[in-house]
Amino acid sequence: MKILVTGGAGYIGSHICVELLQAGHDVVVIDDFSNSQPEVLEYIHEITGKNVQFYEFNILDEAKTEKVFQENQLDAIIHCAAFKAVGESVSKPIEYYTNNLMTTLIVTKMMRDYHVNNIVFSSSATVYGDPKVVPLTEDCPLGETTNPYGTSKAMMERVLTDVQHAYPQMSVTLLRYFNPIGAHASGLIGENPKGIPNNLMPYVMKVATGELSCLGVFGDDYDTPDGTGVRDYIHVVDLAKGHVAAIEKYSQPGVHICNLGTGKGYSVLDIVKAFEKVNGVKVNYEIKARRPGDIATCYADPTRAKEELGWVAEKTLEDMCRDTWNFAKKH
Ligand code: UFG
Repeated sequence: MKILVTGGAGYIGSHICVELLQAGHDVVVIDDFSNSQPEVLEYIHEITGKNVQFYEFNILDEAKTEKVFQENQLDAIIHCAAFKAVGESVSKPIEYYTNNLMTTLIVTKMMRDYHVNNIVFSSSATVYGDPKVVPLTEDCPLGETTNPYGTSKAMMERVLTDVQHAYPQMSVTLLRYFNPIGAHASGLIGENPKGIPNNLMPYVMKVATGELSCLGVFGDDYDTPDGTGVRDYIHVVDLAKGHVAAIEKYSQPGVHICNLGTGKGYSVLDIVKAFEKVNGVKVNYEIKARRPGDIATCYADPTRAKEELGWVAEKTLEDMCRDTWNFAKKH
């Protein structure tokens, strides 16, 4: 298949490109490098021996986006391009809603006009809000989102669902990611946020390298085994393989919703200890106040992905910690 990956130079998008190329697909990428670097494209080539067809611009440029659809007979889209920093979204709601919603509308408009009937969307477990029960199945009700980023993900799910209802020949897949971490085993691609990281694993990585002095653990008084927040951390390569399965298996018309997680929950301190043990490094931390908007526990029931996609997360927490450190050392 010929597949357009929007945001294909980003952390998750680049791993998806690698898995698609290795599965024999042709890949077209649109990315504006707003949160990624051009070298990523060379690394994708180094890993796979293949090239993606690359276009540099923001999808908000509708004329340029249309040209990509004119120039390529696309079979499917994997739509990853979005702003994704939770904290920043609170102070820049206009930018977040404009970027995330408008790009999704433009992509769906092009799909309709150019008869591309298959889209896989990067959604997030954030749409479940503060879960009443865990593990989370896809049938759990959607919850209150607590920031514009999360709300934009829930709104994009709704837009895509309404589009599928209007154009029933389409296949719309909403993949709800839990907490992607780790890096490609080559150490060439991974997550390297600019500035102070928002997410746990990049922060742990930068404390271990000495770039940052101390990890703040946001709260140790949650109702969890050690009092720190529990999440379902999934290796980014497993996550990327889930997209290949989804694009191949969910081709029949309809709205398909699927969690991508491991089904296991680890606490913040579990992550710190595993990272120290696997890599033989020290991660200084101190307990701080809870972070506003955080929830105690969130992990997936991954049964549907296994039954419908034949996909299960294979990599362990040790793999995630080792691959993150390998990536850090190479960069
Ligand atoms: N944490 C810390 N210190 C830090 C960063 C995080 O203690 O410096 C803790 C958080 O309090 C939380 C856990 O580590 O308990 C994970 O936090 P992350 O920021 O890494 O991830 P979140 O679960 O808050 O959010 C992530 C993504 C969102 C996505 C959500 C879906 O960042 O994009 O998962 O559940 F929407």
